[in-house]
Amino acid sequence: MIEGINWHRFPTKECYPSAFLSTFFLIRRSEQQSNNMATAKTFGPLTPAAEIAAAFPNSVQGKTIIVTGVSPKSLGLATASAFASQSPANLIVTGRSAEKVETSINDLKANYPNVKYRALIMDLASQSSVRAAAAKIMEDESIQNIDIVINNAGVMAIPTLTLSEDGIERSFATNHIGHFFFTNLILPKIIKAAQTSSAPTRIVNVTSFGHQFSPVRFSDINFGQAPADLPEEERPDFQKTEFLTGSSHAEDIYYGFFSYAQSKTANILYSISLNQKLWEKYGIASFAVHPGAVNTNINRHATPSEIEQALKRVKELGFDSSQKTTEQGANTSVFAAIGPSLPPVNLSEAQVKGVYLADCKVDDANVAAFATNKALAERLWTLSEKLVGQKFDF
Ligand SMILES: NC(=O)c1ccc[n+]([C@@H]2O[C@H](COP(=O)([O-])OP(=O)(O)OC[C@H]3O[C@@H](n4cnc5c(N)ncnc54)[C@H](OP(=O)(O)O)[C@@H]3O)[C@@H](O)[C@H]2O)c1
Repeated sequence: MIEGINWHRFPTKECYPSAFLSTFFLIRRSEQQSNNMATAKTFGPLTPAAEIAAAFPNSVQGKTIIVTGVSPKSLGLATASAFASQSPANLIVTGRSAEKVETSINDLKANYPNVKYRALIMDLASQSSVRAAAAKIMEDESIQNIDIVINNAGVMAIPTLTLSEDGIERSFATNHIGHFFFTNLILPKIIKAAQTSSAPTRIVNVTSFGHQFSPVRFSDINFGQAPADLPEEERPDFQKTEFLTGSSHAEDIYYGFFSYAQSKTANILYSISLNQKLWEKYGIASFAVHPGAVNTNINRHATPSEIEQALKRVKELGFDSSQKTTEQGANTSVFAAIGPSLPPVNLSEAQVKGVYLADCKVDDANVAAFATNKALAERLWTLSEKLVGQKFDF
């Protein structure tokens, strides 16, 4: 199972053996419609991110924006570049490799030389590194407010069970816990932005349609038991996994795609909690974004033959095997950060609506119920506080 493939166009559970072809054609038609709409100044799956930034320059100009996971050929770089095109006051570019961040900033500077770029080196899998990076931001008097945070960094399908230095499964540690800790530590400056700016103050968590393969396994975050032995509500979707990969992986104590899926579900639940805690009080919104299928370095853990096999399977199943460019893949992150037409996330029911976006629109139809459940979001917040050893009250 790999990213960069449009398997997010997945038929519903009831009908996948028979209906995938018609789903495919319906999808092509709706993408066509969206693209036509893009020419009429709305945005669709293939709108370049910079076009969205250019449509709302006042939400970027003079603002301070943080993007995590910026390296060459990544969605993070394309996202940062879209923002850079509209003259933010500070563009804080984070990554774990100083060299890759420097190369990325040079790339950005070549096109937008007048922006003030700041490199922030942070390994999201290490709580001490995250704490140090957040402290740098909080101590920097030249940064008073933070208007937009794009929690974009991610790692996928680590082949063997690996724990972070803090003893947490590495995808969960990187993709969720690192972002949870970093964002919460810098929240006082995000709150200040919301109190002083009329433009949107937003936190975007980049998730994936792949979240659909697993809920958060509250009883077994670190993959200590076979998924078939988990409580029913924590089990991965075996049927969907088997349909796509030829194996349910139900007996595998660790399967890298399930660890990725768990972390991507956590990204959505974290957005829900942020809205619950920050929207009414401060007007800060958070959205979780699926970027689509994009050829980046996300498949670094897959061998060329695994990628080839996955593409073949996708074609056999009749799915769309086309990919977005990174500029197109970054569009929904930028839209979620500054799109003025986005309604507030609807938190009135037990199941939240309007938190998950794809192709520059709210996409409630493609988000799993376990990823939009308010009680599970609260449970994840409590667990995450426990894992970082710090409580957050705003
Ligand atoms: N590409 C797709 O088709 C697709 C589909 C759905 C969702 N997504 C999501 O999109 C986001 C961006 O991914 P991408 O496709 O641009 O992949 P990518 O090219 O691999 O970029 C991921 C970024 O995250 C960084 N990162 C990984 N581990 C880190 C850590 N421990 N600390 C700090 N940074 C770390 C990487 O840094 P290094 O370069 O130093 O490793 C890189 O900058 C991810 O959250 C991914 O889950 C992508």
